[in-house]
Amino acid sequence: MSKLVINGGKQLNGEVSISGSKNAALPILSASLLAEGLVSVSNVPKLQDVETLIDLLAAMGVNVSRTDDHSIELNAANLTSHTAPYHLVKKMRASILVLGPLLARFGQANVSFPGGCAIGNRSVDMHLEGLRAMGASINIEHGYIRAECVGQLRGAEIYHDSVSVGATENLMMAACLARGQTVIHNAAREPEIVDLGECLIRWGAKVKGLGSSKLVIEGVKTLSGGFHRVIPDRIEAGTFMTAVTATGGRIKLANADPSHLYAVMKKLRDTGARITSNRNSILIEMSGKKSKAVDIKTAPYPGLPTDMQALFTALSTISVGTCFLEETIFENRFMHVQELKRMGADISVKDNIARVVGIQNLYGAEVMASDLRASAALIIAGLVASGKTTVFGMEHTDRGYENIDLKLASLGADIVRI
Ligand code: UD1
Repeated sequence: MSKLVINGGKQLNGEVSISGSKNAALPILSASLLAEGLVSVSNVPKLQDVETLIDLLAAMGVNVSRTDDHSIELNAANLTSHTAPYHLVKKMRASILVLGPLLARFGQANVSFPGGCAIGNRSVDMHLEGLRAMGASINIEHGYIRAECVGQLRGAEIYHDSVSVGATENLMMAACLARGQTVIHNAAREPEIVDLGECLIRWGAKVKGLGSSKLVIEGVKTLSGGFHRVIPDRIEAGTFMTAVTATGGRIKLANADPSHLYAVMKKLRDTGARITSNRNSILIEMSGKKSKAVDIKTAPYPGLPTDMQALFTALSTISVGTCFLEETIFENRFMHVQELKRMGADISVKDNIARVVGIQNLYGAEVMASDLRASAALIIAGLVASGKTTVFGMEHTDRGYENIDLKLASLGADIVRI
């Protein structure tokens, strides 16, 4: 198992290129199951989660080839299996995204039931309820979701009590090949949903309302397949922006989309960062001052992403003043707090709210990452701490950040992977 060793206290300066979005790439690659012809996807980040999904699709008989480091061609013309096995689903919950496409195109799916995970329960009831409304018969047997439908799925009126990114994606994909119209009320509005929808439209689907909370999908007979370029990763961009706000310095993010980052940029500006942007780049500068403590509350898009909460927690530990960070999406997403406290942070958590009292500086320590964003929070803490920090649990980091160590080193951080 690799670990990161960071000698903190260096400012970040220079330019970094943002990779393609993990959370857009995963549903788009899963959507290849819907297409009759060749699918070609570019700007796919090189990440463990993408590898896991490729292994899963290949195990089902999808012909997968990498045309270069960040481009993948997929052909699901000759599927040999409709099963997503336990050993792959347990590595990555997003494997559930093959359920809707398999059912819509082949009339059957057998997907290992995703268990709980470090950040919360993460039920899939909304995925299943929506597919049942579309005519699927679904049973949970021996740890597997066994789903089938007679003939085609049929369009349905679906209402979600709360906003789910994954359920919206699964049902939107399924609805593309259903008979008639599907309406998803209280749909998620995340940029990754819009990207998936635009990709499906390019391949022949009829989807309206992207970016709003009401999606209307008119089923079509087939999707042809075709090309799609994945949007930039807004959470990776937010991670680098938070890092430079914590360490000081000036960095340019190339291949970033500022239009996806209004909430994050607003909060970072409130802490004192200077941010300017063009259509596909962001310049952020934090010079000669410490960040100010700022309260945050996570919310579905366009609110502040839950995936940024751990990063704001790390920043708040060394900000001037006291702030409250409220997590509203996942019930157990403060696992990083105990580790930050081992670095000297003054944080107390009650229910879903963390109270952080900013201190002069953290000190380096050995810390263990519990999940993907927690690992990035600990890396940011290590970048500002005095002395040496060793971050264990890099397998979490590698699920969602492409070469974060090399990118930070290129900006002047003293960071090595061992
Ligand atoms: C996706 C993102 C993840 C992000 C999250 C929220 C991917 C691969 N992952 O996860 O990085 O943190 O959105 O922005 O895109 N829920 C239910 N029943 C369901 C589905 C969800 O109760 O059937 C609950 C979850 O437990 C959670 C909340 O709804 O509390 C939001 O989850 P959801 O939006 O579905 O997250 P994911 O799609 O799993």
